[in-house]
Amino acid sequence: NKLTLLSVPFGLGAGTPGSEQAPGHIYQLGLFQMLQQHGCTINKLKDVINAGMPSPVIQVPMNHSDEVIRTGMALARAVKEVVAAGQFPFVLGGDHSLAMGTLAGLTSHYKKLGVIWIDAHADMNTELTSPSGNMHGIPLAVAQGRAQLSLSHLLPGAGTIAPGNIVLIGARDLDPAEEAFIQAEGISCFRMADIRRLGIHAVITEALRMAGDAADGIHLSFDIDSVDPSEAPGTGTPVQGGLTAEEAREAIRLLGISKRMTSAEFVEVNPLLDHRDQTSLLAMELIALFLSSMKS
Ligand code: ARG
Ligand code: MN
Ligand code: MN
Ligand code: MN
Repeated sequence: NKLTLLSVPFGLGAGTPGSEQAPGHIYQLGLFQMLQQHGCTINKLKDVINAGMPSPVIQVPMNHSDEVIRTGMALARAVKEVVAAGQFPFVLGGDHSLAMGTLAGLTSHYKKLGVIWIDAHADMNTELTSPSGNMHGIPLAVAQGRAQLSLSHLLPGAGTIAPGNIVLIGARDLDPAEEAFIQAEGISCFRMADIRRLGIHAVITEALRMAGDAADGIHLSFDIDSVDPSEAPGTGTPVQGGLTAEEAREAIRLLGISKRMTSAEFVEVNPLLDHRDQTSLLAMELIALFLSSMKS
C-alpha cells in the first residue's frame, strides 16, 4: 500500500502556540532518514494549509474556529483524494482539532469507520460543554454528529462515526460532560488503570476487535499527550500518569503489524514546550515504527 504523508503545520486549535512547528521540526530532526533506514518509502509528501479556503458556512463560538474549520476543509479534501487514489493517508499535525478534517475526508469514503483514539483526553466536548473554548477538545463529538459543527460542514458528503466503533486508550483527564457521554453511549474506554491491569498487548488486541469488527476501515488518532509527561513533556495539555514510552512503542507496533489500520494521524507535539527535543524525537521514532511495522 502506497503512503502519502500530509503535514499540517497548524496549531490554533490548541490553547498554547507551538504545535504548528511540529512537522517542520520533526523533518529537521531526520524523519526521512529514519524512514529510509527502516526501508519505508513515502510516495507523496504534501503540506496542507488553509490558504484559498472560503469562510465557513457555520459560525462556531470557540477560539480561532474559522481558521480551524478552514484547515479542516483543506485537510478533508486532501485526505479524500489520497484515499480515492488507493493510498494510505498519514497525517502529521499540528493540534488535535485537525482530526475533524481527517475524519471528514475518511468518512466520505468509509461508511463504517472505526477509530482508535490514543490520548490522555477524550476530545468529546461540544461547543456548549467545552471548559476551554479550544477546538482541539471537540473533534470526537463533532465526528459523532453531537456538536453544532459537523464533518459535513467541512466536506459535503462526509459521514459520522458511530459511538460503538470508537475506542479510547490512555484516557485520564475527562471533563464531566465527556464522562457522562461515555457512560451513556457505552463508548469503549481503556483508562490508565485498565492498561496497568490488562497490559498494553491485551488492550490493543481488544481495541482492534472493538473498533474494527463492524468497520470497513480503522483510523489511528495518536495524541502524544497519551505518553507520560516525564517522557513526552513537549505538549500543550500534559497530564500525569500516562503511558510509558515503551508502552506507546508496543501499542504502535502492534497496530502496525495487525495490518488492519487504513489511516493514521500523529498530533499535539509542541517543540516550543519540549526539553532537548525529547518529545519530537519520540514522535519521530513512533512514526517510523508505525510505518515500518505496517509493511513487515
Ligand atoms: N478537555 C479539555 C478541553 O476540552 C482538554 C482537551 C485537550 N485536547 C487535546 N487534544 N490535547 O479543552
Ligand atoms: Mn487529543
Ligand atoms: Mn490529549
Ligand atoms: Mn480537565
